Amino acid sequence: MAALVPFDDRDGWIWMDGKLIPWRESKVHILTHALHYASCVFEGERVYGGRVFKLTEHSARLQRSAELLGFKLPYSVEEIDRATNEVVKANGIQDGYVRPLAWRGSEMMGVSAQATRIHVAIATWVWPSYFTPEAKMKGLRLQISEWARPAPNTAPTASKAAGLYMICTLSKHKAEAEGFDDALMLDWRGQVAEATGANIFFVKDGELHTPTPDCFLDGITRQTVIGLAKARQIKVNERAIRPEEMAGFQECFLCGTAAEVTPVSQIGPYRFTPGAICRQMIDDFDRETRKGG
Ligand SMILES: Cc1ncc(COP(=O)(O)O)c(C=O)c1O
Repeated sequence: MAALVPFDDRDGWIWMDGKLIPWRESKVHILTHALHYASCVFEGERVYGGRVFKLTEHSARLQRSAELLGFKLPYSVEEIDRATNEVVKANGIQDGYVRPLAWRGSEMMGVSAQATRIHVAIATWVWPSYFTPEAKMKGLRLQISEWARPAPNTAPTASKAAGLYMICTLSKHKAEAEGFDDALMLDWRGQVAEATGANIFFVKDGELHTPTPDCFLDGITRQTVIGLAKARQIKVNERAIRPEEMAGFQECFLCGTAAEVTPVSQIGPYRFTPGAICRQMIDDFDRETRKGG
């Protein structure tokens, strides 16, 4: 295996607190509130042909995520958009990933952190789509996680908050250790929720079925896919889905900024055969991301 190049030891520029700084100099102190208390929100965005897909939607979600954690970003959505474009251009990224984040700083170290400074940084790196549609059609194999997406009155579930990913990492590590690609998470009621970093759709008799996002992220890709399906007159049923229902679904796919549209062939004991609707959604999403403008 090729040696990994650590993320803190690369060339390039990172936008941090209002300006571009050399990549290796974008540091935080060990006594940073976010590191101890998960007071951090982030985004994941993708660059296609030099342009960030759905940039303003992502910048607006970063702002909303912060508000849900009780802090206000010191920049407007428009300023974050501008900073993102600046850092993408400075690094010469054509096909890549963008990681904006916002966090509480070091002024206070305790549960109460009202007076901490809010920091914002945006990093970006090259990340082309590795898999051809044909390779994707093989489908991912998912394990069903023992961790549940929490109820909305136990965590700020509509926020893309760092702390909510703790159980995603645990779920994905276990799945990988046991030979699976990813894990499906049920929610606190035992209903189908999402994968560890992507939303989920099923196909039955030519219609799409997807869980109502009432305790997990209503992904920007998810919303795009719903729009693309409706444009093709494919009915989309957003509803509560019980795990046993998976026995009656014919196709299944994940969608998210990183996953794009990726078919699934297995979830625990349930099998799916990626088919015409998976392929249609992969192609439509691909066209949408490369449209420009
Ligand atoms: C847990 C989780 N659910 C869903 C999504 C999909 O969101 P989006 O399509 O906005 O990237 C993501 C991020 O990609 C995620 O991390």
